[in-house]
Amino acid sequence: MNKVQKVRGTRDLLPIEKMKFRFIEQSAYEKAQRYGFGEIETPIFEFSEVFHRSLGETSDAISKETYTFLDRGGESLTLRPEGTAGVARAFISEGMAQNLPLKFYYYGPMFRYERPQKGRYRQFYQLGVEALGFETPSADVEVLDLGWNLLKSLGFENRCILEINTLGDPESRKKYREQLVAFLLPLKNELSPDSQIRLDKNPLRILDSKDPSDQKLLEGAPQLEASLSTESKVFFEKVLKSLTDLGIPFKLNPKLVRGLDYYCHTVFEFTTTELGAQGALLSGGRYDSLIETLGGPKTPGVGWAAGVDRLAEMFQLPEETNRTLIAVLAADSAGEAEELKVLQKLRYAGFHAELILGGNFGKKMKKADKLKATHAIILGETELNQNLVSIKNLGSGEQQNLPLSQVIADLRGQR
Ligand code: HAM
Repeated sequence: MNKVQKVRGTRDLLPIEKMKFRFIEQSAYEKAQRYGFGEIETPIFEFSEVFHRSLGETSDAISKETYTFLDRGGESLTLRPEGTAGVARAFISEGMAQNLPLKFYYYGPMFRYERPQKGRYRQFYQLGVEALGFETPSADVEVLDLGWNLLKSLGFENRCILEINTLGDPESRKKYREQLVAFLLPLKNELSPDSQIRLDKNPLRILDSKDPSDQKLLEGAPQLEASLSTESKVFFEKVLKSLTDLGIPFKLNPKLVRGLDYYCHTVFEFTTTELGAQGALLSGGRYDSLIETLGGPKTPGVGWAAGVDRLAEMFQLPEETNRTLIAVLAADSAGEAEELKVLQKLRYAGFHAELILGGNFGKKMKKADKLKATHAIILGETELNQNLVSIKNLGSGEQQNLPLSQVIADLRGQR
């Protein structure tokens, strides 16, 4: 048998990494609560059609990246590549239209068959928010403020920037699409192979092509801004004004079009230069037609998702302060007979306690130091015969013999 290996693009999240994930998710959850977003959890897989219809057949996420399979009943199912389509599907199938407006928060694994590299995985984690039923630009700004608040709280205030653009309403987009195709068609053979395909199917995506010669060809291309309707312009100006009023720094990026087909009006990405090519940390935008495309009532939406793997890569866990870790060690066989009972009492009282085993007493004390224990409880026959234990403060070196109940009361007082 070959060496047992994990599947390419998947990761084992070991305890330290997992602590970061938990910290980040907890911070996001608490903030989302404060902004009135209730948590939702949709299934990890949906009928394939849910994603095909919402993300668009020509988006990379659908055309190249889905994990799609037939189940035993012959249904085509797809592992979710993102969270928005599932939320929109739930909104329709749970009949939530009567309860609008609605605000949702979610967290969980997503799956995309992409080429793995630093910050890009085939199973990765997103946390995200979706605000449904809000037509006005204030909703775009509210979700952006929540994203910014989260990124700031993680210490990224000066390590990322909000890039923002507008795609305008569907008519503006259509008009621009026609102009762009008219401009690029004569240059088709000079475009990269990917962009040639996009020219037929999804020409706006050519704007954010990473290919330098594509970018050169685009230099004289018509600008999306020139095709925007007055309403689209006013909408976007309101978003930008509010961002300025709220002190959220941003950079206009007229080339930002985003990879999924459902967007209109505001699109944005908080990007960093710290993660190499995979610089998008938190991205999203407005999707006013998505729910209708899926067969629901016309319902505007705006939201974002953040890549938790990427946030964790940049994040440093705060130093634990006021931490109490009690090492329990036996000095002799009478102590060994008591160690599990003492350990249980400490843990039931709410303390983090570790049993130190192996080697002589000196070795055990060294192990307690290595664990960075704050206190050691030493169990020996002489003290136990008097119903006492020995407690040593490993910081100060101070040692006392006390009843265990007194030790617990004292330690509680110090917390
Ligand atoms: P997205 O830009 O495809 O948007 O993904 C959002 C975030 O997920 C990215 O900014 C990135 O941090 C992370 N991400 C994406 N792919 C990977 C990957 N292969 N490995 C690691 N992290 C990744 C969406 O998914 C939309 N549903 C966002 C949205 C919500 N728009 C409106 N509402």
